Amino acid sequence: MQKMLVTTPIYYVNDSPHLGHAYTTFIADMLKKYHSLQGKEVFLLTGTDEHGQKIALSASKHHLSPLEYASKISQKFRTEWDYFKIDYNHFVRTTDSTHEQAVQQALDTMLAKGDIYKGTYEGNYCVSCESFTTNSTTCPDCNRPTSKVAEESYFFRLSAYQERLLDFYNKHPHAILPLFRRNEVVSFIKQGLHDLSITRTSFEWGVPLPRHLNEPRHVVYVWLDALLSYVSSLGYGTDNANIDYVNHALHIVGKDILRFHAIYWVAFLMSLDLPIFQQLCVHGWWLIEGVKMSKSIGNVLNAKDLAQSYGAEALRYFLLREAPLGQDGDFSVQALIRRFNADLSNTLGNLIQRLAGLLKPFSGELKSTHTLEFYAPLYTQWQAQLESLKGYLQELQLHRYLEELWRVFEACNATIAKERVFYLYPVLPESASKLAKWLHISLEPKSFQAYMQKDFLLPALKLAPIEALYPKLEEVQATTKETPKEAQNAYIKFEDFSKLDLQVGTIVKAEKVPKSDKLLCLQIDFGGRVRQILSGIAKYYSPESLEGKQVCALLNLPPRPMLGLVSEGMVLSASDKDGLKLITPLELVSNGAKIG
Ligand code: MSP
Repeated sequence: MQKMLVTTPIYYVNDSPHLGHAYTTFIADMLKKYHSLQGKEVFLLTGTDEHGQKIALSASKHHLSPLEYASKISQKFRTEWDYFKIDYNHFVRTTDSTHEQAVQQALDTMLAKGDIYKGTYEGNYCVSCESFTTNSTTCPDCNRPTSKVAEESYFFRLSAYQERLLDFYNKHPHAILPLFRRNEVVSFIKQGLHDLSITRTSFEWGVPLPRHLNEPRHVVYVWLDALLSYVSSLGYGTDNANIDYVNHALHIVGKDILRFHAIYWVAFLMSLDLPIFQQLCVHGWWLIEGVKMSKSIGNVLNAKDLAQSYGAEALRYFLLREAPLGQDGDFSVQALIRRFNADLSNTLGNLIQRLAGLLKPFSGELKSTHTLEFYAPLYTQWQAQLESLKGYLQELQLHRYLEELWRVFEACNATIAKERVFYLYPVLPESASKLAKWLHISLEPKSFQAYMQKDFLLPALKLAPIEALYPKLEEVQATTKETPKEAQNAYIKFEDFSKLDLQVGTIVKAEKVPKSDKLLCLQIDFGGRVRQILSGIAKYYSPESLEGKQVCALLNLPPRPMLGLVSEGMVLSASDKDGLKLITPLELVSNGAKIG
């Protein structure tokens, strides 16, 4: 069976997982599912990058030891991927002893090869990117100020690999996708490569050098440590290594870490006489309404929070469909809802319901011979369209894959063919599994191959009714535009007022929002549905005084990210010269009671 390795970057544990991490992980999981259906043995690798100055600093800010802190955040990543049912085969932590041993073993091999020498690094360093920036006082990648460093260090002879790297990219023009990223890398290499500092002596949080070197002050540079996780996870350095996966490795990375993979990693692999990966798949960034996610702006979105509001598959579908891989995408809740309603609720959801409806008068029974005669020409056309999906996937044009798949759904809105469910599975595994069960098929490579080899005719089939898989999401307004002055005192129409979704709810939990002296984070029960609302009332109410109290809230405002949290509505209050008071019903009413 053909082997394949799909990897995500291993994520830094300086902070909790966010939407960008989830995006990379969804791509990797989709590719694993797709290639597994093709009959390949796919190993999906993810994990956490836990050493280095950045993590040590974050840990000390939180008054924890680096390992305690790393373990806590690493667990958050694992929980996040488990929540999204990511089908990973191994979750590596760079603090695993097997990984640390593999790093030392790799260093020994590089030393024996004469690729490492001792010197002093004098120049600048960006702690956020964990990269040496020679003379730049601001980091060319993230624009943050760099710090001056002068320390004893071991170096890797990267310059000696310049020609071999160019040769590799000449011989493998598709080793990096999209192609413009490959060209970027090639011109970077042509400008000349400096040797790379691969140990640090100004802090201790890293893999120690092999003991025989007797260099207790040195720890391994975090990028060498991290990149080696791709092979330590396969047992590199042990007798049971499964290194041939590397020949068929597909590394999914964001554009921010292209250079580390396309240059350092390839050179390290060459030095270790290991096979080079098959492809580096470089995706763009998700911006939030046009702005880069950042803690200081307070617009960092967490994927699980979004999934809890809009559904895990809605989020996964949106991210994979909305932006062409390689380009930046703009995330907004409005766009997510629009796409969900158009593609999932309308096209796919209607197809399923229509099919169930059509067969209802026949007690759900479908005789395939009739449908086949009737639809024969269409089947051939759809089959060709489905065949073209392979090409899009190979080129990593995931949004085109989905676009084309949806064309087929649109075209066959009143008919049925099982193979489409297979193609749906990598993107929407949960829905596809439900549909497969409904259509009496098993989502396995064997049955997939059978359907694709022209055996797509349906045997007679009896379908039970099926619940709506994608109930429509409520549209939300993009921004509340300021009311022009002259309109401010005018009457409003009753229908405008009735658009407001005002309800009574009970505060079940109230907490201070870290780093804000204004905001409280309230969990409010609106009759079975608990919403999170952030409210600027911290100066007027203590969290404890609010729990159990009923309040009135406006619920159909667009969800709003604030300080890393999302607010899903607004609690009503009145203010006068004495401050601000929450509005509450005179008598107790049921949670979720409409205000009108
Ligand atoms: N630890 C290194 C990777 C080592 S791999 C051997 C690292 N970690 S990271 O936590 O910073 O994760 C970076 C990756 O997260 C990016 O390459 C990208 O895959 C993903 N994203 C982070 N922010 C992102 C967006 N705003 N949008 C999309 N993905 C982004 O770098």
